[in-house]
Amino acid sequence: MNNKIIIINGPNLNLLGEREQSQYGSITYDKLKGACTNKSKELGLEIEFTQSNIEGEIVELIQKSRKNFDGMIINAAAFTHTSVAIRDALQLFKKPIIELHISNIYKREEFRQKSLISDIVTGGIFGLGANGYILAIISMQKLLENEN
Ligand code: DQA
Repeated sequence: MNNKIIIINGPNLNLLGEREQSQYGSITYDKLKGACTNKSKELGLEIEFTQSNIEGEIVELIQKSRKNFDGMIINAAAFTHTSVAIRDALQLFKKPIIELHISNIYKREEFRQKSLISDIVTGGIFGLGANGYILAIISMQKLLENEN
């Protein structure tokens, strides 16, 4: 059964709750992790929820995920706008990928309005706050259900 998903969070998302609440809301990383874990369980998904501030670690995580996971939700945070290495790694993950942003990157500074991964992922969610994670999990469950 295709039911194993990984959620990868990029730099500074460990400080959710502390950083720019006007953009990211007040939920903490741990609370978000808990909410995602509960939603996944409810939908019959096994979830790994991870975060790294280091580009190379995220590349390695994506590479390893090829074997262990059926779908990926990624908030690459600032690396979304800069990392060809993460884009290249994602292209090797031949399964559903959802790009996620808590804020609406297209309403923000010009440098955030370019995503290096949007054109290679299955779909994306942005600007809906932390609730976007829950929507992404629901969407991923549907994508995987259609594959079974
Ligand atoms: C973000 C948007 C990015 O531009 C920013 O660097 C982040 C978070 C978001 O979730 O809205 O760290 O990916």
